[in-house]
Amino acid sequence: MEQENEKRQRLVIAVDGPAGAGKSTVARRVAAALNYLYIDTGAMYRAIALAVLEEGVGPDDGAAVERLARGLDVELVPSAAGNRVLLEGRDVTERIRAPEVSAAASQVAALPRGRRRMGQLHRRSAGGGGVVMDGRDIGTVVFPDADVKVFLTASAEERARRRWLELRAAGHAPSLDDIRANIESRDRLDSTRDVAPLRKAEDAVEIDTTDKTVDEVVDQVLELVRKELDSCSTE
Ligand code: DC
Repeated sequence: MEQENEKRQRLVIAVDGPAGAGKSTVARRVAAALNYLYIDTGAMYRAIALAVLEEGVGPDDGAAVERLARGLDVELVPSAAGNRVLLEGRDVTERIRAPEVSAAASQVAALPRGRRRMGQLHRRSAGGGGVVMDGRDIGTVVFPDADVKVFLTASAEERARRRWLELRAAGHAPSLDDIRANIESRDRLDSTRDVAPLRKAEDAVEIDTTDKTVDEVVDQVLELVRKELDSCSTE
């Protein structure tokens, strides 16, 4: 019984999918509903990409990016509104959402050596479970044995529209066409790279969020969690 309770509270929930599919909104809400930790792994790649841009290093220069990333201190600090992201102790939460950082993050994330280290960091930050982690390779590489795996998708139009609204709310003024082009080029890079490409894990449940409200998607994920918890308690 003790062990069941332990397991009840400490699932690992993996949320993967392309940019703008709703991962961070859904993952954050699911984590809040369960009182779990939410870890936005993309924010870690973004923080490194920002450092790379600030240092004037080429985001595709593997050796230079690795040298720089090795000594970097990137920290995710949970808050009610999501993770605050600290780079060398400096709050870069808003800065890392700029379109040029998104593009550089995709390039940095395609470098094989850095990914291995990032995977280790992600696993370590999940502790003993009780975590919702979103990214591109969480259900396939970082936590292939995650208790619940979700793969969120949405049409490219809808994903671009969501990013555009987010960026406008954050004070940027991008054109919708630019955002769509940025998203499509990142999708291409994220899903065709050699190491840990974006793809749905075989045992992940795919949810197309195009015509769904956030509440509907969150409820669907929580239903999967409930099923998993029930199956744990009857095992
Ligand atoms: O989820 P996001 O848009 O914040 O991610 C930024 C970039 O980092 C994205 O282009 C893909 C990459 N990424 C990755 O390769 N693996 C992850 N687990 C998370 C993000």
